[in-house]
Amino acid sequence: MADQNTKILRGRLLTFHGDPMGAKDTAAYSYEEDGALLIAGGKIAARGPFADIRAGAPDAPVTDHRPHLILPGFIDTHIHFPQAQVIASWADQLLDWLNDYTFPAELKFADKTHGERIASAFYDALLSHGTTTASAYCSSHSNSVDAYFEEAEARGMLMLGGKTMMDRNAPENLCDTAQGSYDDSKALLEKWHGRGRARYVVTPRFAITSTPEQLEAAGSLLKEYPECHLQTHINENHNEIAYTLELYPEAGDYLGIYEQFGLLGRKTLLGHCIHMNDRELGVMRETGSVAVFCPTSNLFLGSGLFDRKRLESNGIRTAIATDVGGGTNYSMLRTLDEGYKVLQLQRQRLHPLACFYWITLGNAKALSLEDRIGTLEPGTDADLVVLNAGATRPMALRMETVETLSEELFVLQTLGDDRAVVETYVCGEARRPA
Ligand code: GUN
Ligand code: ZN
Repeated sequence: MADQNTKILRGRLLTFHGDPMGAKDTAAYSYEEDGALLIAGGKIAARGPFADIRAGAPDAPVTDHRPHLILPGFIDTHIHFPQAQVIASWADQLLDWLNDYTFPAELKFADKTHGERIASAFYDALLSHGTTTASAYCSSHSNSVDAYFEEAEARGMLMLGGKTMMDRNAPENLCDTAQGSYDDSKALLEKWHGRGRARYVVTPRFAITSTPEQLEAAGSLLKEYPECHLQTHINENHNEIAYTLELYPEAGDYLGIYEQFGLLGRKTLLGHCIHMNDRELGVMRETGSVAVFCPTSNLFLGSGLFDRKRLESNGIRTAIATDVGGGTNYSMLRTLDEGYKVLQLQRQRLHPLACFYWITLGNAKALSLEDRIGTLEPGTDADLVVLNAGATRPMALRMETVETLSEELFVLQTLGDDRAVVETYVCGEARRPA
């Protein structure tokens, strides 16, 4: 008899081992046309041709997803949970958008009930778009962090996040203090980090909304808890950069501020990284900090073009993310589409296999979580997405002429959204909201 939690998922399997140079780079990915995953205890126990997996587990129930693709669940490395009602707000550029829409919306998270309602809708949105892990900014209220991680726990999801630290240049009721933000973050970190699948992220919003004392407090937290990530924003918008350098007149450049307070390292996620100087690139490389590309946000707020080639040729680790609500869609497929266009404008055409690598194993590596998620390797958590490249009429029509896997992936990223997501599995359980 098969164990109650043992099951087989059958479909066309695609997983990555490295960043593919193209379809011929077969060492970088594995594709199995009639493949199967054996799921046991929420993990992938085995992967291979369906016939082999079946032979090894003759009693396990089978869910047949053919002709759809089964991939590792998508990973969103930068998103704002309290901005679920900010998305699609008609604003000028970053600083006006923050003051006019974002801060007022985040103020509402002082109320735990509001946080709980938005958390439920937020996770429904992630799962219906095939995203199984994300790193989110909560609001500056501890309540919002509890609401965020409680809902993740109820759904069994591996989520990263933290309280947004901000002690100036924002409405009074959104501001904390350097000491208060240290104390609250520490208490939340002690409560949540490592509880089930939760991971705490030290989260100073950006230098404009943090005094030097607060950035120092963030640095102290990281020193005390080096296993935690840190996330913040940098070099997104020209007005933001000018104001930042006014507030920190001693700093030679933006990254120098975060550097000075010990905020950089392999677990540091820096949102945007659009307007970087050469010195900053060198420091990014030396510290192993991650540059997070947020294409829909960068286009929506008119921030600028992320220069992936320049960053990667300088040895800098990169990730890709939605940045909802500056970003305009929860879908990592829509994000790839816009990202592709941003890179096209700079004559940096990305192969579809490289695109799907980025939103799975690439982002898992950027989060240093590739031993757990972002892959279909046996032993990792069974967080998966099932994709239908013919989900809409225009997609089905286009698919009539598609002959290769790469072409199919490109249809998915160019035309796909939540309608292409047939199912989302979290630890082997089907979790796509009805
Ligand atoms: N910089 C500081 N806060 C934010 C935010 O909420 N969104 C974006 N896109 N940039 C920021
Ligand atoms: Zn952001």
